[in-house]
Amino acid sequence: MSSPYQILARKRRGLSLGADDLAAIVSGASDGTWSEAELAAFLMAAAIRGLDQEETHRLTLAMMQSGDCWDLASDIPGVVDKHSTGGVGDKVSLVLAPLMAAARIPIIMLTGRGLGHTAGTADKLEVIPGLDLELSRARCLEAVEQTGMAIGVATADIAPADRRLYALRDRTATVDSLPLIVASILSKNLATGAEAVAFDVKTGDGAFMSQPEEAVELAHRLVETCAALDRRASALVTDMSQPLGDWSGHSMEVSEALQCLAGDGPRDVMEVVFELAMDLAQLADSPARRRDFEDLVNSGLARETFARWAEMQGADAQWLAAPTLEPAPHEVVCEASCGGYLSHVATRELGLLLAEASHPEGALGTLDEQVALRSETRLGDPVEEAQLLARLYLRRPDPRFEERFRACFTIADEAVAPALIRDRIAAA
Ligand code: URA
Repeated sequence: MSSPYQILARKRRGLSLGADDLAAIVSGASDGTWSEAELAAFLMAAAIRGLDQEETHRLTLAMMQSGDCWDLASDIPGVVDKHSTGGVGDKVSLVLAPLMAAARIPIIMLTGRGLGHTAGTADKLEVIPGLDLELSRARCLEAVEQTGMAIGVATADIAPADRRLYALRDRTATVDSLPLIVASILSKNLATGAEAVAFDVKTGDGAFMSQPEEAVELAHRLVETCAALDRRASALVTDMSQPLGDWSGHSMEVSEALQCLAGDGPRDVMEVVFELAMDLAQLADSPARRRDFEDLVNSGLARETFARWAEMQGADAQWLAAPTLEPAPHEVVCEASCGGYLSHVATRELGLLLAEASHPEGALGTLDEQVALRSETRLGDPVEEAQLLARLYLRRPDPRFEERFRACFTIADEAVAPALIRDRIAAA
């Protein structure tokens, strides 16, 4: 077996690493036999020299096998998953999971906590009193068997090597390396044993991959790596150059998701939900039309499924019957300074602002889940002088946030409205 020094020297020279080398790096990360210096050198060499498709899939497999693999498909044939690379106002999982379950396509999602300017699905769902997202394999199985769906957080036993490597990537400026992102995402996602995954790769100012070409490349890499690991996958590349839906912020996104399930969701959220639903149905070999999914929403079945699932995972039934979700009390408005068209929304900045305002004691302190943003206009909309563009809801007045908020919207003389679905990568 090669030493860390030999493996690092090969990658530094741009040579491909073999399965044994990648397995050695991953076990070194899990059991501590590779020092931080050695792992950091690997990450930097991989970020600069790249990892080819074979190396990416071997690294993913080794990272996935560094922890528990649930193999849920052995008990729930046809179980699917959906993964989003994250954005501002992205509450699609909350609507899509019960919709798939209502369509009798079993779905499992392990979701994350907030990262940078994006709020985590897990943090949003914890707004629901009593809901427990710490799932063991057995609890997950029980939830899917009884309600058709399960949503949980990735526990410490899932892909532990990723935990160490991810923390180091954050310190070594290697977070945005495509093969390292692919291995990180898939090592956790595929550990559940879902047979197929639909990816929603976001692009635009509020996405991690702001450049469309990079997002498309990531989408291809995710789909190809899944295929190399015998999982079916497809991807949508969707626009994140403005917040998705009317509301952003923990409580109000849950409220909007419930509104979507009641058949009264914003057009953009429902468009992404229905497109991903059709992709998942295709991947699960039970193709369905958009109309079928619309019927599941309009009949109330998707909303009922959500309530049954949430109750199964501990949510308070009385709260679910009459959810009470309000934004924080101090409203700040942003009005157009002149007439024209809404031409740019600083979405990443809005996400950062929401993250900071909802964590008044810092990232590890308590979460103010009621901090929220309401978008009143969309990119390309004509606006008149003094027309309302957006509202921000804070716990108390804070001039620093108010100024930053108002600087996030730009009016121009020309209308620019980006397409919501930017690209599609069909199953490999
Ligand atoms: N999400 C992950 O889990 N890993 C990454 O590298 C990026 C997003």
